[in-house]
Amino acid sequence: MTDSDTWTNPLRDTANDRRLPRIAGPSGLVIFGVTGDLSRKKLMPAVYDLANRGLLPPGFSLVGFARRDWEDEDFAQVVHDAVREHARTPFREEVWQQLAEGMRFIPGQFDDDEAFKRLGETIAELDTARGTGGNFAFYLSVPPKFFPQVVRQLKRHGLADAPAGSWRRAVIEKPFGRDLATAEELNAVVHEVFPPREVFRIDHYLGKETVQNILALRFANTLFEPIWNRGYVDHVQITMAEDIGIGGRAGYYDGIGSARDVIQNHLLQLLALTAMEEPADFDADALMAEKLKVLKAVKLPDDLERHTVRGQYTAGWQGGEKVGGYLEEEGIDPQSRTDTYAAVRLEVDNRRWAGVPFYLRTGKRLGRRVTEIAVVFQRAPHSPFDTTDTQELGHNALVIRVQPDEGVTVRFGSKVPGTQMEIRDVTMDFAYGESFTESSPEAYERLLLDVLLGDANLFPRHQEVEESWRILDPVEEFWDTHGRPAPYPAGTWGPDEADEMLARDGRTWRRP
Ligand code: BG6
Repeated sequence: MTDSDTWTNPLRDTANDRRLPRIAGPSGLVIFGVTGDLSRKKLMPAVYDLANRGLLPPGFSLVGFARRDWEDEDFAQVVHDAVREHARTPFREEVWQQLAEGMRFIPGQFDDDEAFKRLGETIAELDTARGTGGNFAFYLSVPPKFFPQVVRQLKRHGLADAPAGSWRRAVIEKPFGRDLATAEELNAVVHEVFPPREVFRIDHYLGKETVQNILALRFANTLFEPIWNRGYVDHVQITMAEDIGIGGRAGYYDGIGSARDVIQNHLLQLLALTAMEEPADFDADALMAEKLKVLKAVKLPDDLERHTVRGQYTAGWQGGEKVGGYLEEEGIDPQSRTDTYAAVRLEVDNRRWAGVPFYLRTGKRLGRRVTEIAVVFQRAPHSPFDTTDTQELGHNALVIRVQPDEGVTVRFGSKVPGTQMEIRDVTMDFAYGESFTESSPEAYERLLLDVLLGDANLFPRHQEVEESWRILDPVEEFWDTHGRPAPYPAGTWGPDEADEMLARDGRTWRRP
């Protein structure tokens, strides 16, 4: 078959053509906790950006539910301001007008039956006026302690049950519990009301283009997979460093800490995508099966004292400004032992990875904002060159730069011109910004669209969430009973103990 046959073949399966835009069918989104930060900074702008890209149906409707004395117009104004401030794509009046016509607001508390009754009436009204077809996703952008109440109210008022031929979905945000036991409880409550297939758990890292690219890099190429194993890889470093502190999130963060906040979810998902086997296809079930299999193989070292480190930032300098320490942040208990930095060594106990450490680290108020996965290869088994000429040579490495400067770097040794045989590290770079003209959508655009399409590929299932707590719980228990986090000044790369942890293994952290 020639290329032109492909274009003219009337039997071509357009539904599966991945080059065509995926457009959501008739539907609406109800956001609980619509006055929160996430909603204003991420969800509302993402809805607008999707509409602006033509990926939402014309009658798409957005319903806000919160404890405010607002009319529909007040809500629309809040969305308008959020879109103006945070949307990725340019503001277009005609797109906005069409979207704004489908906005409704329900004032109420979560225990207010009247409010849920009004929500039901609003959904029915939208089905008639806007053709939403009974298809609604309920986004719980609220603290997890309210999940049980909200889902039960939805059930009680008949809103969780999809009318024939339509769907009802629940979207929930982390934290999915604070340990395995609470995660299981939470999952049980949500599944009492929504079948597991209709529950979409957001891990926004999976919505990032660079994270999806891990699978493309590994499984669409022949170059990397043959060396992606214990025969060639020395170790893997997964880093998520942030320069910001905890901002106004004391209430959420204190007592939770960095490991629960991001290692349990984002970093273990990155590990799973890096270490998993090739799925049978790119279907949600097949992907989940492989991620779950590899998470089950993850083992903590026996000696947690030597192979885990937690830290807490103290006052320091960041971007030329003096910043306070964690214990001085507003709303933080001055005795708090919450970690703002965490590093752990994990192993993946299977044939591909046995003996290869995976070092995961994250922290607030570190030197700069960067998330990357570095696959560090073993040194060449033998060098015919004089050792003095190669002393500056590091390990070969493949670095997936998740953010910023999205791309992939390969580091290898190269001869220095003009010298006899001096070899130094050089890098070969792929940068998204240079190779593609399209800019990357925000993670929430992709994920919201997937919810409306019912595409579950990029959403961790409850089994993955529980498996991740199984990995982290012993670390948290150990930390609870052993001392305090090690201090590190803001603007540095974490506590010295983290460097010592790697030095004991004869390795060093990358300084991205
Ligand atoms: C969230 C964490 O999941 O991810 C925050 O709760 C963190 O503490 C944030 O700041 C970082 O996200 P991103 O996309 O900016 O790397």
